[in-house]
Order: sequence, then structure tokens, then C-alpha cells
Amino acid sequence: MKTLNRFLIESSIQMPLYNIIQYIIQPSKDLSRKINIAGLEDILGEADATNVQGEEQKKLDVYANDAFVASLSNCTHCAAMISEETEEMISTPFPNAEYIVAFDPVDGSSNIDVNVSIGTIFSVYKRKSTDGPVTLDDCLQAGSNQLAAGYIIYGSSTILVMTTGTGVHSFTLEPHIDKFYLSETDIKTPQTGKIYSINEGNYIKFPEGVKKYIKYCQENDKPSNRPYSSRYIGSMVADFHRNLKKGGIFIYPSTEKDPSGKLRVLYECNPMSFLVEQAGGKATNGYDRILDQTPSSLHERTPIFMGSTDMVNKVGEYMQEFSPKK
Ligand code: AHG
Repeated sequence: MKTLNRFLIESSIQMPLYNIIQYIIQPSKDLSRKINIAGLEDILGEADATNVQGEEQKKLDVYANDAFVASLSNCTHCAAMISEETEEMISTPFPNAEYIVAFDPVDGSSNIDVNVSIGTIFSVYKRKSTDGPVTLDDCLQAGSNQLAAGYIIYGSSTILVMTTGTGVHSFTLEPHIDKFYLSETDIKTPQTGKIYSINEGNYIKFPEGVKKYIKYCQENDKPSNRPYSSRYIGSMVADFHRNLKKGGIFIYPSTEKDPSGKLRVLYECNPMSFLVEQAGGKATNGYDRILDQTPSSLHERTPIFMGSTDMVNKVGEYMQEFSPKK
């Protein structure tokens, strides 16, 4: 069995990136343990606080955020962190360093209390400016600039799925010895699938193109394997992971109330889009490639359509026809 460390060394990634990944992965092991015994620790439930988007924070959100911030604050290559749970950029004690890490410490918080899979999402960028202390502008980058991205899914086992731009690889945590071991190399997502994942409770508020696509998914058509199955966990990491392996599409569209959707460009959409593209899939905002958009603020959101290429293309056709871009 090959450890994550050995795999990274053999893949000859640059030492700073190797180092940063270590500092991201380390707290996830402790977090995995905590999640496994969550009912016995005081980490379930609300933290009696809200984050920058006005969303209720869970105790585990706060615990995990603190753990990743503490770990990365010791990484001499990391100039700044940006977190879904924190309003401002967090400079490390090394503000002249070259790299920036974005993370969502716990994705799917609403599932924490009911023992359903949740995850941590991360990505790494090189800062834009070349000297002086890191600035906010250094963090506002298109997803195509990501050097690494991944997620750790705390499910029936704890799995790290990661890319450094040369395919998608997964590693399973062996909890007894606290090490991640390579479990799958060069994961490819099927060109098409049978699963669509969307919160259909919001149907009435969806753009017409999405409504029409959902009806398409539900039609009877043997040659194209329809009707598809609807699967929605409500933890994007878990929905994404299933669709990555089995083929499918995940959609979080705009709604009348939230024209930019719910999910954040820097913490959720960019890393997942990098991964899905590296696995041979596709990610758009319904019209354009996610990775080509440069956010203008840290907590910017975007609609997202990602997964098997044929399915993303199909919904794109419906969007063009029934909800043309304004
Ligand atoms: P949070 O981490 O605040 O629970 O948000 C989870 C995200 C994402 O993981 C999931 O796909 C989506 O929000 C679910 O939102 P809806 O409940 O609106 O479907």
C-alpha cells in the first residue's frame, strides 16, 4: 500500500505544494476522529453564531475552521487563508509567502447532527503579486489558476480525493495508524450517467431551462436510459463523490430569490470544478465554464451545473433555449 506522502513525492510536485497539502491534511485526521464520535463530544448542534453569509454556524463548523486555521498558520509557504466561515482574508505569520489556501472546513453542516456524510473542501493558488505582504486581490483568482484542489469526505470511511492537475486520485484514511493510503488512481467520471442531483423542493423558483431539463430527466426513453434517478443528500461533497464515481449531474441553479445560487465560487465551486474537469467531466454556470470566472469578492456565489459531460451539455442546451443568458 502506498501512503499519500509517498504518492506525492513520486508525483514530483513542487516542495511548497507538498508541504501545504500536509498542513491541510493533518487536521482532517483529527476532524475525522471527532466526527466518528460526535455524539460523545460536545460538537453537535448550533454554535449560537452566524457566519459571514448570515448562516447559522454549527459547533463543528467553528471547531473545524479553528483547526485548519491553526494548522496552516504554521505553514511557512502559506501567505493567507480564506475560509467560508470567515469574513476576511486571514494572513498567516508569513504574509510574504507565495501561496494562498481556500477552504470550506465543513461542507454540509446541516447533516452533521444526523450522521450523514459531510466533507472538507480545499484549494491552493499561487498569489498574483510577487512581493510584499499578501493582499485581498491576490485571493480573487479564476479557478483555472488552482494548483491543487480536493475534498475529504467523512463517510462510511474517510476518503481524500485530490488533484494537482495530473488526474484525480483518492486516498483512504486508515484510522488506526492515522495515515492516508492510495486507494484509486486517475479516477474518470463516466461520460454520461443516470443520476440527477438537485434540491427539487425549490422547483417552482428554478429557471425555465432547469425545469425543462428536470422533466427531460423524468421522461421514459429506453435508448437514453431515462428516467434517471434523483439523488440528493444535501452535502455537496457527498453528492459530488457519488456522481463522480457513478456518473451523473449535480445542479445548484439560480433561483428567483438567489440569482447567484447558493454555492461559493472560491470555497466550493472552483475546487469541485477543477476535480470534475480533471476526471473528464464538465462544470458550468449553465452557460460558461466555472473555472474561467474571476470572483470580485471573497464570498461570491455562482450557479453550478457539474458532472458527466453529456449531461452538463444537455442541460446547457435547455438553458440556452429556455433561459437565455441576459
Ligand atoms: P452548508 O454547508 O451550509 O450546510 O451548505 C451545504 C451546501 C452544499 O453542501 C449542499 O449541496 C447545499 O448547500 C444544500 O443546500 P440546500 O439545502 O439549499 O439544497
